[in-house]
Amino acid sequence: MTNEFMITILAIESSCDETSAAVCRDGEILSNVIVNQTIHEKYGGVVPELASRAHLQNILPVVKEALLKANCSLQSIDAFAFTQAPGLIGALLVGAQFAKSLSLAMDKPLIAVHHLQAHILSNLIPEEKPDFPFLCLTVSGGHTQIVLCEDFLKMKVIGQTLDDAAGEAFDKSAKILGLPYPGGPLIDKYSQEGDPNKFKFSEPQIDGLDFSFSGLKTGILYFIQDNKKKNENFIYENLNDICASIQQRIVAILLNKLKKASEQTGIKNICIAGGVSANSGLRASFNEMGLQCGWKTFIPPFEYCTDNAAMIAITAYYKYLAGNFAELSISPSARAEWND
Ligand code: KG4
Ligand code: ZN
Repeated sequence: MTNEFMITILAIESSCDETSAAVCRDGEILSNVIVNQTIHEKYGGVVPELASRAHLQNILPVVKEALLKANCSLQSIDAFAFTQAPGLIGALLVGAQFAKSLSLAMDKPLIAVHHLQAHILSNLIPEEKPDFPFLCLTVSGGHTQIVLCEDFLKMKVIGQTLDDAAGEAFDKSAKILGLPYPGGPLIDKYSQEGDPNKFKFSEPQIDGLDFSFSGLKTGILYFIQDNKKKNENFIYENLNDICASIQQRIVAILLNKLKKASEQTGIKNICIAGGVSANSGLRASFNEMGLQCGWKTFIPPFEYCTDNAAMIAITAYYKYLAGNFAELSISPSARAEWND
């Protein structure tokens, strides 16, 4: 049931290898359907062409299910939203074209959403929301940023990675250990049984609030090669401890910079977001640091950490309130500047 004061939005996310659709009404998520594309596992990473094809196959059933779960008809939708950037261009095109077609057919506005802004605003889905201004550490497979959020759509990147993203650091380390893609969740799993202080990996010395992970990756590669020369079963015999040590180092790199950002800005409302914010070590250490530093900490529920359309829907809701609509001629973009 709808009335004229309610705003119901259907959102689509297709930037990488998850096809997702969500319905949100007045900022409340009614459904969030996510289909993971397993086809990429055997290639050790996402194959863009296969991702586009899988999105094409998945998108209609995923959208239908999102409407069904939300108990909404297409006629009750007030606006159609999609991820405009950044991401794999062929994958983005599928979601963009689908949302545009719906907008045209139903004669309802179109809303273009920046994927990284959406990761950050996933922190506004739970009932307890951060007050502005807040800082957000966004850690995903493609990005690592510290963002100063002054308002719903007013955000400034104050630190970012100079090379690999935190998710890549997890995934590339996992690959060196012979684990399948995406390795981040597996490193998390094996870490639970491991000793994080068993092996020492050095912390890169990078100025300011920026990050670098490529040196760590090379360090891990040499460390594994050297030890395998001495003992060919080294990985097998030490997997849990290696994973725990890698995870501890990545988490420390992230949180040391976040602490610095809080000290520099004086902001103590702090969020994390993105796929890597699902990491149990990061979540625990973040909360611990929050207690020590007097922060108010916010972490999105698990289902809103990795790619999902609920975060696109919540961002679109605030864009709707601001009257921030897109033209039907808009195209997606693989890379994108911050668009507020
Ligand atoms: O946000 P996301 O789903 O996609 C991008 O926008 O990139 O993030 C995916 C990344 C992958 O690198 C994946 O390995 C990592 O998030 N990831 C994790 C965990 N769950 C997902 N990394 C560490 N621990 C996890 N539990
Ligand atoms: Zn993402």
